[in-house]
Amino acid sequence: MKLADDRMLEEIKEKVSSLNARLVNIRRDIHSHPELSGMEHRTSQLVARFLRECGIDVREGVGGYGVVGVLKGAKQGGVVGIRADMDALPMDDIKDKPYASKVKGVMHACGHDVHTTVLLGVAMVLSSIKDRLRGTVKFIFQPSEESGPGGAKSMIEDGALEEPAPQIMLALHCYPELEVGKIGCKDGVMTASSDRFTITVKGRSGHASRPHQTVDAILVASMTISAIQHIVSRRTDPLHHAVISIGTINGGTAPNIIADRVEMKGTVRTLDKDVRQKIPHYIELILKGITTATDATYDFHYEFGSPSVMNNPRVTDLAREAIKEALGSTALVELEEPQMGSEDFAYFAERVPATFLRLGTANPRKGITSSLHTPDFDVDEDAIGVGVTALSWITIKYLLQGGKI
Ligand code: NI
Repeated sequence: MKLADDRMLEEIKEKVSSLNARLVNIRRDIHSHPELSGMEHRTSQLVARFLRECGIDVREGVGGYGVVGVLKGAKQGGVVGIRADMDALPMDDIKDKPYASKVKGVMHACGHDVHTTVLLGVAMVLSSIKDRLRGTVKFIFQPSEESGPGGAKSMIEDGALEEPAPQIMLALHCYPELEVGKIGCKDGVMTASSDRFTITVKGRSGHASRPHQTVDAILVASMTISAIQHIVSRRTDPLHHAVISIGTINGGTAPNIIADRVEMKGTVRTLDKDVRQKIPHYIELILKGITTATDATYDFHYEFGSPSVMNNPRVTDLAREAIKEALGSTALVELEEPQMGSEDFAYFAERVPATFLRLGTANPRKGITSSLHTPDFDVDEDAIGVGVTALSWITIKYLLQGGKI
């Protein structure tokens, strides 16, 4: 690293530590006032206010409650987009902490409060060196990550990636499988695609004692459920992971009446594009075969959701280098496996070379170990400074390189 860059890094680190108490307060404020997907009114207002305080141009109401901030450096250069999600989950917070959720049935159990705070921290840090910044940084605060079709899609449709168009994009997610101070990286596939389907099996009802005069929708549905599991075990290459789960089943009215209708809803997760494209076809073949054999009929509705997040190896390499420089080589963890969870950052990463990082948030010594989406989820708040340092330095490094990777 050049001496001037070295000095800049030291300055960034000092700035981050001076902001720490303020950022912890912001995180606790957002954590105690969680908002469900599509309802992020308060959070987006708070975000817009802090961005304006930093002298950043702000556009609100982008694809819902999305907020986009644009920071133009003193000199021309590359454009980096950084995205944070803002929504919470429909569950009760059982933590015994002063900053636990004040809203019954709503909780930041996926750490999106941390993501929002980290990105505000990055905005504060980068705006403080605006006079030396060579290029533009776009801060994308996204609503509705937890609920389909998702805020990433609606923000993109509403122009979040235009004027200026980012050349690379960054995002991170809390990751309690790693201890605080560590950041996980991976090339290629990072998360699963996530699709949904609804199957309605239609039969003919009648008295349960005269089944030969009926078409039993419950029996046909049960045959269908079993047969669908053959898609993963016998139709899919064992090296290409896939999950098909049926999560709801509804049908029937009484023990002595054959049901004429059963509705089932399920989800499909895959890590491979080809497998993803074939699964709806296989489900339909099973439905056709079983209903033909049983005189039933069916409706089948399949909805493609988020694709997999694909990490661009060159952007990920830039992140690896920056993390090692800013936080030391022990901070960088190579992740072996993708996750079967999904993440709508995939829509950004489909359009712009991007990397999605895993921010270590656990600290067993402080008893902070619970998983995402659990009612006592919490993070070691030192992760905020780690995230701000990493994202700030990756951004600066890219701009210092003249917007090239
Ligand atoms: Ni999440």
